[in-house]
Amino acid sequence: MEHTSTQAIVLAAGNANRFKTKKNKQLEPICGKPMVIYQLHMLNSLSIPTILVLGENKDETLKQTVQHYKIKDLSFATQKQQLGTGDAVASAKDQLTSNLVLILNGDMPLISADIIKTLYKKQKETSATIAFLSTNVIDPTGYGRVINDSGKIYIIEDKECTNEQKEISTINAGAYLVDGEFLKHELSHLLKSSLTGEYYITDIVNHASEQGKIVTTFNVPYDNVRGVNTLEELWAVEQIKRAEIIRHWMLNGVRFELAQSTHVDHDVTIKAGSYIGSGVHLKKGTTIGESCTIQAYSILENATLENNVIVDYHSVIQDSTLQANAHVGPFARLRNNAIIGEDAQIGNFVEVKNSTIGTKSKAKHLAYLGDATLGQNVNIGAGTITCNHDGANKHKTVIDSNAYIGSNNTLIAPLHIQEGAYTAAGSTINKDVPKDALAIGRAKQENKEDYATKLREKIKKNSDSSKNDKHSFVGATKSKNFEHNL
Ligand code: UD1
Ligand code: MG
Repeated sequence: MEHTSTQAIVLAAGNANRFKTKKNKQLEPICGKPMVIYQLHMLNSLSIPTILVLGENKDETLKQTVQHYKIKDLSFATQKQQLGTGDAVASAKDQLTSNLVLILNGDMPLISADIIKTLYKKQKETSATIAFLSTNVIDPTGYGRVINDSGKIYIIEDKECTNEQKEISTINAGAYLVDGEFLKHELSHLLKSSLTGEYYITDIVNHASEQGKIVTTFNVPYDNVRGVNTLEELWAVEQIKRAEIIRHWMLNGVRFELAQSTHVDHDVTIKAGSYIGSGVHLKKGTTIGESCTIQAYSILENATLENNVIVDYHSVIQDSTLQANAHVGPFARLRNNAIIGEDAQIGNFVEVKNSTIGTKSKAKHLAYLGDATLGQNVNIGAGTITCNHDGANKHKTVIDSNAYIGSNNTLIAPLHIQEGAYTAAGSTINKDVPKDALAIGRAKQENKEDYATKLREKIKKNSDSSKNDKHSFVGATKSKNFEHNL
C-alpha cells in the first residue's frame, strides 16, 4: 500500500460478557476460521504490521490459536485489566512507532481490504488527524452514535446518549486511522467514564474535534462492519460469510440444491459440475473434484474427493479420501484416513476407519472395516466386521484382490486372507486363509426330524396342567424338564 509508515492495533482483550459463554468470542469460528483471524489475514494482505491486544492470564488459548496461523509481522500487547477500548489501545502504546495507526475492534470480522484502502485514501485526501468508519443501521442500540455538530464530529457511546441522541442511526463502526503523534499524546490524557468506569477510544475523536483538528468519516455498508457482541450477531455475520462463499462456488459452476440450508467453510474447494444437496455441511479442509454429487444431509470434514464421486444421503466423512468414481452411502461413515479406491462402493450402515479399499471393491451393507487393507475387486458380505481391537492393541486385516468374504463374517485380526479366497457366510475367521481356498468357520448344522412337533405337544400339555393349578402364575409353570429339552 502507498502510505508512509503505518501499523495496526487489533483489540481482542474484551470480556465478551454479552456472549454469556465465558469463552473468548474471538475464538468463535466463522465458516471454520476463528473470528480474529479474518482481520489478521486482511491486514497481512495489505502488509500492515499489526499489534494484537490480548488480556493478561486469560487469553492464552487465543494466543496459541493465532500463533498456529503464522501471521506475518504480528506482535502482541497485554491489557492487564479490561478497562475499556481506550485502555486496550494504551497497552500497545510503547510499540507505536509509525506516522499513522489503524485501530480496529477485533469483533468486526467482515471488514474488507478495499474498505481499509479507501480509509487510507480518505485520510490522505483530507489530511485528517483521524479518519474513521461510520455506517447507518435501523437499530443502532449498543453502538456509539456519530454526531455532527455544526461540522464537528463526535462519538457518543450508547450508554452516555441522551434520548434524542439515541434516535441517531449513524454509528461508529470501530475502525480508526489516527495520526501517530496525536494518538500517543491522547492516550496519556484519556479520562474514565464516570458512568461505566471505562476508557473509551472514541474519546480521541471528540478531543480532536474540540481541538479543531480535521476529523473525516467514511460511511460504509453495515454488513461490512457489523459488530459481533452476542451469539445472535455471530449467527448473522456467519450467514453473510456463508452466503458469500456459496455465491462464489455457484459462480464457478457448482449447483446447490437448497443453498440456504447448506454450510461451506472458508477453505473448501469445489470443482465445476458438482452438485451439493440440501443440508450438506462441507467443513474445513474438504476438496471436491469435478462432477461429484453430495446428496442431502451428508457431512464432509477434511475429505478429499476426486472426480465423479457420489456421496449418497446422510453420510459422514472425516479425514478421508475418495478416489474417482467411488460411491458411498446412503448412511455411510468414513473416518480417520479411510481411502476408498476408484469405482469402489461403500453402502448403507458401513463404517470404514483407517482402511484402504482397493479399486472396484465393495462393502455394500452393514459392515465395519477398521485397520484393514483390501485389494481390488474384494467383496465384503453384509454384516461382516473386522475385530481389530483386542482390548489393548489394534491389529490389521489384509484381504487380497478378488477375495470374497461371505455375509456375517467375524474377521479376527491380525489376519491375512489371500488372493481369490472365499469365506463361508456366518464364519468366524481367526486363521490366515491361503490363496483360492474356501474357509468355513462355523458350527455344523444338525436337523432333528419331527422334534418341533414333539416340542409343541409338550408345551400344550404343560399349559393345560397349569390352568388347573389355582396357585399358578406366569412363569411358575416352567418345568425343569421343559428347560432341559430345549
Ligand atoms: C465499540 C465502540 C462503539 C462502536 C462499536 C462498534 C468504544 C468505547 N465503543 O463498542 O462506539 O459503535 O464498538 O462495534 O470503543 N476490548 C478490549 N479491551 C477492553 C474492552 C474491549 O480489548 O477492555 C476489545 C473487544 O475485545 C472488542 C473491541 O475491543 O474486540 C470492542 O469492544 P466492545 O466491548 O465490543 O465494544 P462495543 O460495545 O461493541
Ligand atoms: Mg463490539
